[in-house]
Amino acid sequence: MCGIVGYTGKNEALPVVTGGLFALEYRGYDSSGVAVLCGGKTEIVKKTGKLENLMAALEKAQLKGTCGIGHTRWATHGEVTETNAHPHTVGKTVLVHNGIIENYVSVGKMTNTDFKSTTDTERACALFNELYERCGDGLQTITSACREFVGSYAFLVMFKDEPDIFYAVRNGCPLVVGTADGGFAACSDVAACDFGEYYKLSDGDVAKVTKDGISFFDKDGAPISKEALTPKKSFSAPDKCGFPHYMLKEMEEIPTVLKNTLEAHIKDGLPYFEGVEDEIFKNMNRLRIVGCGTAYHAGLVCEHISRRLTGIEGDIYIASEYRYSGHKLNKDDAVIFITQSGETADTLACIRMCRAQGAYTLGVVNVPTSTAVEECDGVILTHAGSEIAVASTKAYVTQLAALYLIVLKMSLVKGTLTEDEVRGLCGELLNGVCAESRLSDTDKITINRIAEKYSECRDMFYIGRGLDSVLCSEASLKLKEISYVHSEAYPSGELKHGTISLITEGVGVFAILTDERLYLKSIGNIEEAAARGGSVIALCKEGFCKDKNYDLIPCRISNDLFAPFAVAPRFQYFAYCMTIIKNLDPDKPRNLAKSVTVE
Ligand code: G6P
Repeated sequence: MCGIVGYTGKNEALPVVTGGLFALEYRGYDSSGVAVLCGGKTEIVKKTGKLENLMAALEKAQLKGTCGIGHTRWATHGEVTETNAHPHTVGKTVLVHNGIIENYVSVGKMTNTDFKSTTDTERACALFNELYERCGDGLQTITSACREFVGSYAFLVMFKDEPDIFYAVRNGCPLVVGTADGGFAACSDVAACDFGEYYKLSDGDVAKVTKDGISFFDKDGAPISKEALTPKKSFSAPDKCGFPHYMLKEMEEIPTVLKNTLEAHIKDGLPYFEGVEDEIFKNMNRLRIVGCGTAYHAGLVCEHISRRLTGIEGDIYIASEYRYSGHKLNKDDAVIFITQSGETADTLACIRMCRAQGAYTLGVVNVPTSTAVEECDGVILTHAGSEIAVASTKAYVTQLAALYLIVLKMSLVKGTLTEDEVRGLCGELLNGVCAESRLSDTDKITINRIAEKYSECRDMFYIGRGLDSVLCSEASLKLKEISYVHSEAYPSGELKHGTISLITEGVGVFAILTDERLYLKSIGNIEEAAARGGSVIALCKEGFCKDKNYDLIPCRISNDLFAPFAVAPRFQYFAYCMTIIKNLDPDKPRNLAKSVTVE
């Protein structure tokens, strides 16, 4: 989502700022802009569309100066226009903003400004400026203005008559400052700048960043000290490594990252989670899982597996619903939070809500430097490495791996499986499942051929039963988010309770069939759809559907329990092929963001 970068120091600001914006690009944005402060003046350049458009404009504009800020915007208030893009300026104030100022209407009314944009940010900028005009002091302005804001924000603010200085302040949105490129930088993601050492701002903290150093203040402007951190170089810089798209590269990495995640959490043949006591799992009488998007879908799989192996049922929540649901927890409860980025605003809000009620919070997180890792009581890292493509592929599969191990741990400590049984299943995961997740060239050719055949299809219904039905939710999301083909996921047996009225000639029916026990029931439901003109793709266990006239994507599955690891890479690849055939960019689908930092 929106990204912010700032720099002041002895070097030109623009290369650092635009370099940071490129590093944040994958998160999703629709316009961008920079401002450079020089000689009491600021120059601003903004463009809609890709960063390349901004770079072309910057080549002509030739901005010079050693203090500057930049932004990639993902529109919330106001459409995608240059006027609405950041930086915004009012009077002597120039700023960039991540988040949403919810009371922007009343904030705007506190000033006497003729607004050019429809953004909440310009209203906030006007308030900063009004207060600055009154007191002439940057720090005092920042603290006073922030007292008025309701909502979430990370701001970088420059004042035209405070040379070589910018201020950084946050509430609810990530922001770090640190040494970089012969000066000092601020960024919404530590990975986007080449920091020497850096400091994480907490809510309410203000950093005054000058060309000579950084000073920190609390929300009332009193000096505070912060702990210096060293960036973990655990994530390699984004690199497509010769692949045409990040998504393809990330799917190729699945067998490797799956193995890495399993090996990190299997010790002596049994599930092991450093820093998380067995008691936590022993006390789980109900599985509570919270996440958004793909992470939520991983939670659905976990609930299914838990019911099967431990007999423990679960409640799987979408974070934006859970946070306002009024659920009551106590100190004996534990809640699992699944998040790739560790920065999803709704998921973070739920973590805070559960902690406030005294419950134990267990994060299943991919980014080790993220806020979720910092805030959860216990953390199980997935080891997917950096995932750049908006549509999650390898991160989802590693989330599943971590969740399977959680369920196996529960089975062990609760005694629903013996140690030998758990050891056997861990062995199967490590040895068999990684191989089954790998697509052969033949698999790819088959899937691509089927995608060609269905490329004109406008609607696709994903159907399955049992575990296959929860996999359908993720398969359907993959297809619609990047290929823009309308799709829906349905438990096969539910189709005839309404949705079958939409199945006509040319409608795609993508069936997932991996469960022997439910095979005949599933076939019955597929036939009902086929009889009404639906064209059927069956992603199924090898040997299934051989006598059927379906487009088959067979996969080797040695144990039904682990079917998701073979099935997911195949439905992901299908969505990728559909997208490429349509000449769309799978890495940056329209309107979507990789890291959703607003609620
Ligand atoms: C966005 C992404 C999804 C992701 C979801 C949750 O919508 O586009 O791919 O599943 O956020 O993100 P998280 O980082 O919390 O897993």
